[in-house]
Amino acid sequence: MSSKIMSTTKVFSILVILTGAISFALASDPEPLQDLCVALPSSGVKVNGFACKAESNVTESDFFFSGIAKPGVINNTVGSQVTTANVEKIPGLNTLGVSLARIDYKPGGLNPPHTHPRATEVVFVLDGELDVAFITTSNKLISKKIKKGEVFVFPIGLVHYQKNNGDKLASVISAFNSQLPGTLSIAASLFSSKPAVPDGVLAKAFQIDASEVGAIKTKFAAPKKD
Ligand SMILES: *[C@@H]1O[C@H](CO)[C@@H](O)[C@H](O)[C@H]1NC(C)=O
Ligand SMILES: *[C@@H]1O[C@H](CO)[C@@H](O)[C@H](O)[C@H]1NC(C)=O
Repeated sequence: MSSKIMSTTKVFSILVILTGAISFALASDPEPLQDLCVALPSSGVKVNGFACKAESNVTESDFFFSGIAKPGVINNTVGSQVTTANVEKIPGLNTLGVSLARIDYKPGGLNPPHTHPRATEVVFVLDGELDVAFITTSNKLISKKIKKGEVFVFPIGLVHYQKNNGDKLASVISAFNSQLPGTLSIAASLFSSKPAVPDGVLAKAFQIDASEVGAIKTKFAAPKKD
């Protein structure tokens, strides 16, 4: 009798461990199967990520990037600029499951509400102060003012934003557990997709008139990078 109870407990523990392992494995990019797989985007081969460059052609420049050493040029209506340091800029990141970005904000600048479908984000404030927030699936807003040297976490998939309500420039370094986290900007994706989301869908979703939908779409007509 007691040995039967023991084995049931054992099976239960194994199930718990397996479930944990599976959810851990799904929490970020897959583990690499070799030392290096420097991205070779010009390869026509379609794999989950990029095909690998021949190791004889790999150099230190495949693992180097100086593009986030200086502030990005902020030239848009929202007043913030994201400069990515992902596998598209650093081919050596291919299959390694991590990347960075730098974000610079003018006073009043906003990195508008968006999600990263493939990564959790950890921001470290280089300079200034930011009001940051994310929204859970139960519609709870988790928000905080963060300043130089402080860190904040945006869990994978959740809508989040950062706003510089200070009177000087602010900047952060963001770290991601994906070589290419992907960004889905809520307003831009809904109001400037190609082909367009029908006005009637947006009017009903936002509970506004179709004419107001048209006015918003006009403002998004010039697509922005990053
Ligand atoms: C290395 O790079 C050169 C120049 O792009 C290319 O011609 C050559 O085929 C590459 N070598 C291998 C082994 O892929
Ligand atoms: C962005 O840069 C372009 C060309 O450099 C300039 O014409 C334009 O006025 C700038 N836009 C903003 C919003 O600063």
